[in-house]
Amino acid sequence: MGDTLNITNPKLSPWVPESWRSFPVKHVPDYPDANALQAMEERLRRYPPLVFAGETRRLKEQLAAAAKGEAFVLQGGPCAESFGEFTADIIRDIFRITLQMAAVLAFGAKVPVIKIGRIAGQFAKPRSSPTETRNGVSLLSYRGEIINGAEFTEQARIPDPKRMEIAYFQSAGILNLLRAFATGGYANLNAVHRWNLGFVERSPLAKRYSVLANRIDETLSFMRACGLTAENSPQIQETEFYTSHEALLLPYEQALTRIDSTTGEWYGCSAHFLWIGDRTRQPDGAHVEFLRGLRNPIGIKVGPTAKIEEILKLIEILNPSNEPGRISLITRMGAQKIRELLPPFVREVKKEGKIVTWLCDPMHGNTISTSEGVKTRTFDAILSEVIGFFDVFSSENAYPGGIHVEMTGQNVTECVGGAHHLTEADLNERYQTFCDPRLNAEQSLEMAFLVAEELTTRHFMKLNK
Ligand code: PEP
Ligand code: CO
Repeated sequence: MGDTLNITNPKLSPWVPESWRSFPVKHVPDYPDANALQAMEERLRRYPPLVFAGETRRLKEQLAAAAKGEAFVLQGGPCAESFGEFTADIIRDIFRITLQMAAVLAFGAKVPVIKIGRIAGQFAKPRSSPTETRNGVSLLSYRGEIINGAEFTEQARIPDPKRMEIAYFQSAGILNLLRAFATGGYANLNAVHRWNLGFVERSPLAKRYSVLANRIDETLSFMRACGLTAENSPQIQETEFYTSHEALLLPYEQALTRIDSTTGEWYGCSAHFLWIGDRTRQPDGAHVEFLRGLRNPIGIKVGPTAKIEEILKLIEILNPSNEPGRISLITRMGAQKIRELLPPFVREVKKEGKIVTWLCDPMHGNTISTSEGVKTRTFDAILSEVIGFFDVFSSENAYPGGIHVEMTGQNVTECVGGAHHLTEADLNERYQTFCDPRLNAEQSLEMAFLVAEELTTRHFMKLNK
C-alpha cells in the first residue's frame, strides 16, 4: 500500500469507498500478509455498523449550532485506546468526567454542551518515525493496538489484520456501555453530586464542584415545582454522547462504510465524527480522498506548519456545498504560537464565507520531554493555549466552537501542574498512557471551570449576549 498513481484532479473523479487506494497514502502500514488483510476487510464489511447515519446527522446539526455560538463542543478522551484497558470502570470514569465537565460548562457558561468522546475506535496512531531503536536494536514503530503490539519484539511489531476485529468488537462493547450510561439513568441530572469521582472528591476542586452541583440541584427543584421532572422531560434524564477518532487506518474505515437506507448516501460507521490528522491532511492524499465521500462531520487538525491556502483547499474538497457542521477545524498550534498563527486562518476562512466549527486542541502543540526523556505537557501551557485561542476569537469577533483534549477519568500522573501541582518527579507514579500524556480527571475538571469562566466573562455565546 505504498505510493501509487497520482491523480491530478481528484475533485473530478467519481468517489467510491475504495477510490483512496489510487492516491498516495501516509501512515497506513504495509501488511505482510495481503490475503489475510483482504479476508479481514471482507469480514468487517458484513458486520453491523457501530453508529447510525441518523445520529451522525444529528451531531452535524449540533456542530452547526456550535459554529454560530449557540453550543459548545467538549471532545475528549485518551490519545490512544488500548486492548488491555477494556473495563467497565475505565469507560465509566471517562463518561463521568465528561459529564462533570459538561455540567460545569453548561451551568457555568449557560450553553448547550455537545459531548464527543475520543473513544470506541481511537486505536490507530501516526508516528514520527517508522522505526524505533532501543539499545542498538531497531524495530517497526508501535502504531496503535489496531495495527500492531506495543511490546518491543519483532513479532509484536508486525502489522496484524486480526487486530482490526478485536478493535471492532471492543468499540462495540464500549459503545454499548456508553449508550446504556447515556440513556439508562446514569446521566440523570439529579445524580450530579454522585458524579464526583473518588479522588476528585479529595481534591481542592471538589468544593467548587459541589457548590455548582448544589446550584444545579436547586434549579432542578424549582423546575420540578413548575412541573418539569426527569419523568416528563427526557433532557433531564438522558444525554447524548457521540464517538470520534482519527480516520487513519483506511482499510478498516473503508470496511465500515455503509449506505444509509433513508438517504442513499455513504457514511463512515466506525464513529460519528472522524478527523484527519495533521500528518495525513495532504489535499491530494488518500485520507482526504476517502473522507470526501462520507457524509459524517469531519475534523481537520491544523498544526503550526499548515498553510492557509492548503486549509481552504481542503475545505473546498471536503465541503463543496459549504454545509454547516460538516467541517471542524481543530487547531493545535502550541501555546507560544497560537496568537500569532491563528488570526489569519480565522480571518481568511471568514472572508471566503466558509462555515466551520473551530475547536482548540491545546495538547498536541505543547508536548515536551523531561530531562529523563519522559513525554509530558504542562497544565500551564495547555491552559495558555486555550486562553490564546479565546483571545484570537475575541479579537476576530468570531465564535470559538469548543475544545478537543486528551484526558482520562483516572488519577494518572502524565501532565505536570494543576491543582495538585504535579511535578516531573511525580510522573513515575502513575504514567499509564499508551501514547501522549493526558489530563487526569482533576486537571480536566479544572480546565472545564476555567473554560466556563472564559466563556462567561467574554460573553462569547450568542445565547448570553
Ligand atoms: C492526535 O490527535 O492524537 C494526533 C495525533 O494529533 P495530530 O494529528 O494533531 O498530531
Ligand atoms: Co495524541
